Amino acid sequence: MRFLPVFLDLQTGPVLLVGGGELARAKLRVLSAAGARIRWFATDGNHDVSGLNAGEVARIEFAAGDPLAADLHGVIAILCAGAGNVGVAMSARARAAGLPVNVMDDLEHSSFIFPAIVDRGDVVIAVGTGGTSPVVARRVRESIEAMLPGRIGDLATFIGRFRKSINGRIAQMPLRRRFWERVIDGPIGALVLAGRNLEAEQALADITDPTIFAGASASGEAEGRVTLVGAGPGDPDLLTVKALRALQDADVVFYDELVSPEILDCARRDASRIPVGRRVGKPGIGQDAINKLLIEAAKSGQRAVRLKGGDAFVFGRGGEEVEALRQAGIAYSVVPGITAALGAAAQFEVPLTFRNEALRITFLTAHKARDAEAVDWSALTDEKMTVVVYMGMTAATSVRAGLLAAGRSPQTPVGVFARATLPDAQAAVGILAELPDLVARVDRGPAILVIGDVVAHSAPALDQNWRDQNFTQTISKLLEAAE
Ligand SMILES: C[S@@+](CC[C@H](N)C(=O)[O-])C[C@H]1O[C@@H](n2cnc3c(N)ncnc32)[C@H](O)[C@@H]1O
Repeated sequence: MRFLPVFLDLQTGPVLLVGGGELARAKLRVLSAAGARIRWFATDGNHDVSGLNAGEVARIEFAAGDPLAADLHGVIAILCAGAGNVGVAMSARARAAGLPVNVMDDLEHSSFIFPAIVDRGDVVIAVGTGGTSPVVARRVRESIEAMLPGRIGDLATFIGRFRKSINGRIAQMPLRRRFWERVIDGPIGALVLAGRNLEAEQALADITDPTIFAGASASGEAEGRVTLVGAGPGDPDLLTVKALRALQDADVVFYDELVSPEILDCARRDASRIPVGRRVGKPGIGQDAINKLLIEAAKSGQRAVRLKGGDAFVFGRGGEEVEALRQAGIAYSVVPGITAALGAAAQFEVPLTFRNEALRITFLTAHKARDAEAVDWSALTDEKMTVVVYMGMTAATSVRAGLLAAGRSPQTPVGVFARATLPDAQAAVGILAELPDLVARVDRGPAILVIGDVVAHSAPALDQNWRDQNFTQTISKLLEAAE
């Protein structure tokens, strides 16, 4: 991010506007509407203020002479629009004076840029694209405008009026936040958004104990809880609405290594983020230590999210964590996620069940060869069963041996689906006899192995829509080769 959005206090001094024509007048309108005092050097000599009201015009100082010789004392920012070559020279002056400067359409000579603005009274939203595309910024602004309740600014003003007095009655910070969240999300917020401010004020005054309203226990302590959240297979758009809400709500997020940074970014900015999973080549902190952290966080009144790849209850140790929370008497809930098998099935169009061909699905894990040896392969002989193997890359040879020994045909279609739903997803499809080779053909994990006739219906196997993808061979070619 080159340009950080910050908000400039327009009460502290005038903005120097240099330029003429419609470009300068457009900036004049934006600044005037925001209540700025403006010192305007009209480089075309035309101080046209049509469209501005008397109050706005009264805040404009019409300057004459050479803007390069202008007195910069007290000026808070310099803006050049329609100023031609003067813009570059003004930029040098501004920088020498340590003042923020914007030269319109000239990133090189600007130290700040103008965002597209959504203005709803006390709620102001700035949308920027780092100066790359004002049109995209405007489109985003339009979407936000359409989404926001009309009186959202009134809600901010309402809270601003009572914040100090209410916060003075709630000692704990997390409880303060929860108090206002309940106000905003509950009937009081709805009354303000409906323009019924007097009733909203009365409802606020009727709250006798703000700490209890905020959800504190009878002793006045914030009540913590843990939410186990399935983050899905990687694509942030596959987070559920509930998962997103839990993330926005959390004070602390304990996350696994498979959770992508984009998903972690959905958490509140000020939430603590603690990695607890295994890193590549490094052991994790261990299940007992994770359980302890979750329990401690909840006991200290925090809302903790335990964020896991896929779904917490599919090879995610969710069961162990829920047991520990139950035993410790911690309030908890579970938000399901899209497990890797379903993410891969959707992306690569593998129907995990198929009429008359695949009537059952088995999810199993074979992390190491010895796990694979522990699997009862004889239970997987049914040809109408799709077998999905999690964590099976390194044990692919043992998986093949187990299934062949159980009587599965070496011609059974199989797919290795790596990094499903992520931008660099890969698929390698073929037959069971070649499973370890197919694993070797994907660059890296995580990957699932799907074994069963349904793989022959997948998009990579049929070579449809996947011509650009990095899959290796189509199943038809492999079948031909095997004959
Ligand atoms: C510890 S398990 C966690 C499974 C997770 N709880 C779920 O429901 O998907 C990790 C394994 O999930 C599979 N996996 C996770 N994300 C994946 C992805 N995006 N594409 C393919 N496989 C994935 C891989 O087999 C990986 O080794």
